[in-house]
Amino acid sequence: MTIYNLGSINADHFYAVPHLPAPGETLAAMDVTTGLGGKGANQSVAAARAGADVVHIGAVGPDGGWAIDRLAQYGVQTHAIAQIDTCTGHANICVDPQGENLIVLYPGANRALGADQLAVLDTCNPGDWLLLQNETNLQVQAAERARTQGAQVAYSAAPFDVAAVQAVLPFVDLLLLNAVEARQLSKALGVAVTDLPVPQIVVTKGADGAEWIGRDTGETVSIPAQKVAVVDTTGAGDTFAGYMVAGLSQGMTPKDALRLASTAAALKVTRAGTADAIPTRDQVAALL
Ligand code: RIB
Repeated sequence: MTIYNLGSINADHFYAVPHLPAPGETLAAMDVTTGLGGKGANQSVAAARAGADVVHIGAVGPDGGWAIDRLAQYGVQTHAIAQIDTCTGHANICVDPQGENLIVLYPGANRALGADQLAVLDTCNPGDWLLLQNETNLQVQAAERARTQGAQVAYSAAPFDVAAVQAVLPFVDLLLLNAVEARQLSKALGVAVTDLPVPQIVVTKGADGAEWIGRDTGETVSIPAQKVAVVDTTGAGDTFAGYMVAGLSQGMTPKDALRLASTAAALKVTRAGTADAIPTRDQVAALL
């Protein structure tokens, strides 16, 4: 089974700051580092580290060859990543001593994918998954095309935008939300999350654990969060999403996939960084 991931690829610039900056404030960072990021790239790396076969669909600029190489080093297939004449997406990420973050994003090439790049989805089959987030263009077209091939579609609704969620929702088999996104979506659509017309929904709740809802059976599975020393929460949701879809694609039960994903995310928050800080399957198994 293959996971096709239409997703962003960013250069993440991390600034360690004494506190998150207030409006109008000029703040000196104590440290700066750069690594591979973007919700899409993070999720591809997480799924590959979980042992899944992953094809990333995305775009970088002339300056982005290093990001393609890095994804390949993590075991992600990169033949559907285009190098185009628009700069690579990047994120400036402030992280405070409590591990909380503030992100300013420039989408660049992530929002300039060509429709021809979706041709790779014609090779997907029933049993495969298409994974989406909200940092690229072409999400609806990709979801429709993957569904036509019989693949399932997972959508991680981040960064949250109600119009983007509404557009893609009719094609979604698995919707991944954090607690804030779940509240925002419920309020905007005027329905409880449990009543959304999606077969499977996962809500992550940080320190309160995570929940899987199977709409057809009415079954709900909840698991507690692991207690860990928080260093940096950036990319924890992406780690969860990549591991969750990988687990389901490997035939795990929702409960086992939830535990795997939750443990991977817990381990990620003990480390600074995003894609480069995502734990391997063996490291997750050791904590499980
Ligand atoms: O979810 C974390 C990610 O959001 C970062 O890697 C950053 O690039 C932004 O896309």
